[in-house]
Formats: sequence, structure tokens, C-alpha cells
Amino acid sequence: MNAPEKLTLFTLADWSAQQLARIEQALSRWVACPNDAPAPAGLGDAMRYAVLDGGKRLRPLLVLAACEAVNGNPHAALRSACAVELIHAYSLVHDDMPCMDNDVLRRGKPTVHVKFGEAQALLAGDALQALAFEFLTPDDETVDAATQARLCRMLAQAAGFQGMAGGQAIDLASVGMPLTSEQLHEMHRLKTGALLQASVMMGASCGAPSLPVQHALRDYGSAIGLAFQVVDDILDVTADSATLGKTAGKDAAQDKPTFVSLMGLDASKAYAQELLARALASLDRLEADGLHNTSALRALADMLVNRQH
Ligand code: IPE
Ligand code: IPE
Ligand code: MG
Ligand code: MG
Ligand code: MG
Repeated sequence: MNAPEKLTLFTLADWSAQQLARIEQALSRWVACPNDAPAPAGLGDAMRYAVLDGGKRLRPLLVLAACEAVNGNPHAALRSACAVELIHAYSLVHDDMPCMDNDVLRRGKPTVHVKFGEAQALLAGDALQALAFEFLTPDDETVDAATQARLCRMLAQAAGFQGMAGGQAIDLASVGMPLTSEQLHEMHRLKTGALLQASVMMGASCGAPSLPVQHALRDYGSAIGLAFQVVDDILDVTADSATLGKTAGKDAAQDKPTFVSLMGLDASKAYAQELLARALASLDRLEADGLHNTSALRALADMLVNRQH
């Protein structure tokens, strides 16, 4: 008689705990390393403050989950995961500055410019952005040159004028303006969606997925990217600052166009669920061939849409 088959059930809590340990260890070791070439004049302290001890690490988790789904190179994936988080952390440092959203609380702590001053916050953001690309280009044999170049291009596009920075420009230009649904979609797609979708596609790029698999992951990334900012807009209205670790209610206070201001709270919540269903349907296309394990991507989409902070 055969031995009973060992069933290993996936739980997001177990999977995340393992991946987060890898991510936190790598970030702590690589960001402005205090022992090995410390960043000068307090810059390293500001960089580490911006990146360590906080954040849900959703983007790095998406990178690792997508890499897992395509059986990609884990070294490339860990570097990509950290690189994406550095771009995200830098975008938060600048987003919080007085010239942008003028926020004093982030990840449950005073914002970087409150703690270190505006000039140091500006420089910490600049240095984190540069460091992200250094992470993607290791000077060893762990990631081949073509993969390094592809990952750099994807991250550059998602961070720059075709992505996050472009979306932030629209955000600032839209204060007090009632945007059409189309304009709001475009702003959210760029300012937040691009980096989340890039997280998925960079993870996939650590392997060699077929075109249909790439398309399914691209559609998944697009749906969760938009859903993420819809939920961020909802939480700004429904959650409190202690739960969020950042100032609640500031979108209305600053007269920012959001999904809640455009379509109301209930319709925004329904829309987030519709986007989740769309993301999961994209993964169904991947699972059909039995070759791709999408458990983590599936659970992350659910967590991202149904999160409380
Ligand atoms: C907040 O992102 C900023 C947006 C892009 C809307 P997160 O909610 O992922 O922030 P952290 O990383 O968990 O702090
Ligand atoms: C910021 O969007 C998106 C970024 C590119 C940083 P928000 O301004 O809505 O983010 P929070 O609410 O301050 O985290
Ligand atoms: Mg903002
Ligand atoms: Mg903000
Ligand atoms: Mg927000």
C-alpha cells in the first residue's frame, strides 16, 4: 500500500512570514549598510528610517509570489523585491513632504522630513531611488546580464514619468478639480498601479514565462494595481490614523479627487471587489495548465483588497 500522500496546505500567514523574513534581512543588510561604507552626514540614518521597521511590504511579496508562480531565479527575485520597495519608500518620503501632501505621520512614525529635515528627506529619496537600481545589477554570477537589463527597464518605466512620478504630477495638478472617471483611472494607474503591476511583472521576468502567462499576469497586475489605490482611497475615509499609521481623512481635507469622492463609498467598495474578481479570473487562466502555482498571488490579491490598513 502506498504511503498516505502528504498534503501541504497553503496559508498566506506561513508563506508571508517566510518571505518577509528574507525581505527584512536583505533590506536591513543592504540599505546604506552601517558597517560596510556608511552613508555620510546622517544620510544613511534617514534612508534606513524610511525603509526599515514598517510597511506591509506588499510590493516585494508580489515580486516573490510572481517569481514562484513561474519558477524563476530566486536571487533575481529577492533583489527585485527589495528594489521595488526602495522605489516605494522613496515615493512615500517625497509624497509626505510639505511641497506635496505635507504629512507628519507615516508607518506609525514621524515622517522623514519631520525627523531629519526637508533637505535630508529629499536626498534620502534620491539615494533610495539610485540604490534600487544598484540592487538590480549585482556584480556577480547570480543574475544574468539580460535579466538585469530587463528588470532595470521595467522598474525605471514604472517609477518615472510613465508611472509613479507621472501619476504624482497628475495628483498635484488635480487638487480641487472634479476629474472624470477616465482621468481618475489614468491617475491611479500611473501613481500606484504601475509600480504594483511592475512588481508582478518583474517577479515573472525572473523566469521565462510564455506569452499567454505574461498576459495573464499583466492583467492580474493591472487589476490589483488599480484595486490597491481604490482601497487606499476608501481607507482614508473609513479608518483612523492609529490603524493606518498615517493621517486619515486627508484626501477630503486637501480636496484630492479620489474614487470615494467620484463614486461614493459603497460603489467604491463594490468596485474594489469587482477588480479582485477580475484579478482572480486572470489567475484562473494561469492555473489551467497545472504548471503554475498561484496560491500566493491569489491570497495576496484577496489581502490587498480586503485589508484594514
Ligand atoms: C501607501 O502604500 C501609498 C500608496 C501607494 C497608496 P502602502 O499602503 O503599500 O504603504 P506601506 O508600504 O504599507 O507603508
Ligand atoms: C501616494 O498616494 C502614492 C505614491 C506614489 C506615494 P497617496 O498620497 O494617496 O498615499 P498616502 O495615502 O499618503 O499613503
Ligand atoms: Mg499623495
Ligand atoms: Mg499622501
Ligand atoms: Mg492615500
